[in-house]
Amino acid sequence: MASRSRSPRLVVGNWKMNGGAGELAEAVRVNEAARGIGGVRIGMCPPATLLHRLSECFAGGPIATGGQDCHAAPAGAFTGDVSAEMLAEAGARFVILGHSERRSGHGETDDLVAAKARAAVAAGLEPIICVGETRAQHEAGETLAVIRRQLRGGLAATRQDDAFAIAYEPVWAIGSGQVATTAHIATVHDFIRSQLRALAFTDHVPILYGGSVSAASSGEIAGVDEVGGFLVGGASLKSDSFLPIILSAAEAVALAVG
Ligand code: PGA
Repeated sequence: MASRSRSPRLVVGNWKMNGGAGELAEAVRVNEAARGIGGVRIGMCPPATLLHRLSECFAGGPIATGGQDCHAAPAGAFTGDVSAEMLAEAGARFVILGHSERRSGHGETDDLVAAKARAAVAAGLEPIICVGETRAQHEAGETLAVIRRQLRGGLAATRQDDAFAIAYEPVWAIGSGQVATTAHIATVHDFIRSQLRALAFTDHVPILYGGSVSAASSGEIAGVDEVGGFLVGGASLKSDSFLPIILSAAEAVALAVG
């Protein structure tokens, strides 16, 4: 069994279009507290304007930074966009790609996500590729078909030895306070693992869960087979809510090892 293994979990905060001095101070607090926590890699993805500053704040500490999106081209006449190289230059290790808010708000397709993932890897970044069904697709019983399509499309340009992660985020669970049940998460994460295997990707690819993760739900979800960590929105903005989620992931590794 792959992810009940001792592989470190990955917990990533997605600030979305939020963040200022208060959030930077909270992030520094998390960075300090996380120094003693093993078994987990941590990322924080602030708005692009804060990336360089946050990377400097974290220098020498356990948390890495990431972007929330990137352009597929390395440079050029793309007003308002940021390239993967620019994120890397600002200190980023990760980049979130294909988030449902990019898909719905900016019309991003699986082909575009695939091109961005290629660009991210070329720039030395680890893409976190998001997949997830809408409420209507969920209710129509289309979840696995949607996930299969998004995975196959979004990973079309990713190679077997590229470092990347998948984040399963049911759209209906994002920002709604309605966390998916552990049974649903288990089914979808097992399905994602089987799809990754069919595409010849190793079991080291972490499969994160995202969607209203909180301190109250993270312990139970972290114990689900094939949950390799979390992508956290709202709860990543405050140390009091983010730290317990990081600890839940670390604990799951300790249990698997122990
Ligand atoms: P949420 O967001 O934790 O606020 O639901 C998760 C995400 O969109 O990545």
